[in-house]
Amino acid sequence: MKIGLCSDHAGLEYKNKTISYLLSKGYEVANYGTDSPESCDYPDFAHALANAVESGEVDAGIAYCGTGNGMAMTLNHHRGIRAGLAWGTAIGKLVKEHNNANVLVMPARFISWRMALSIIRAWLDTPFAGGRHQRRIDKIPNV
Ligand code: RB5
Repeated sequence: MKIGLCSDHAGLEYKNKTISYLLSKGYEVANYGTDSPESCDYPDFAHALANAVESGEVDAGIAYCGTGNGMAMTLNHHRGIRAGLAWGTAIGKLVKEHNNANVLVMPARFISWRMALSIIRAWLDTPFAGGRHQRRIDKIPNV
């Protein structure tokens, strides 16, 4: 499985730690930036990750910004993206089980690295439940 990563400056440290963690677990990764601690604009990186997921260049994505909201808002403008914001382990599990999020978004300024790891594991290890949840996902697009 190949996972794409992105962040703005606020999420840079956790993004880089996530890349190391995923590599250590045998995942393939692709980094869509930022790679600088300088202040930057999260959409520049969110769109790059979203395009990669939509084109199949990567199977799924993980994104960080300070609150997670800017990344989630931008990612969810893409038709092929279901980006879910998670700040606790149970939400990390449910965002896959119920929402089949293909991009996991986390608020780097509001969770510990230990929590981020726990959320990532929950999201990766939990299967999508399908059934009534698939029906609901099918109703998300309004055009
Ligand atoms: C950057 O200061 C901050 O606005 C950004 O990381 C994010 O929280 C936006 O949603």
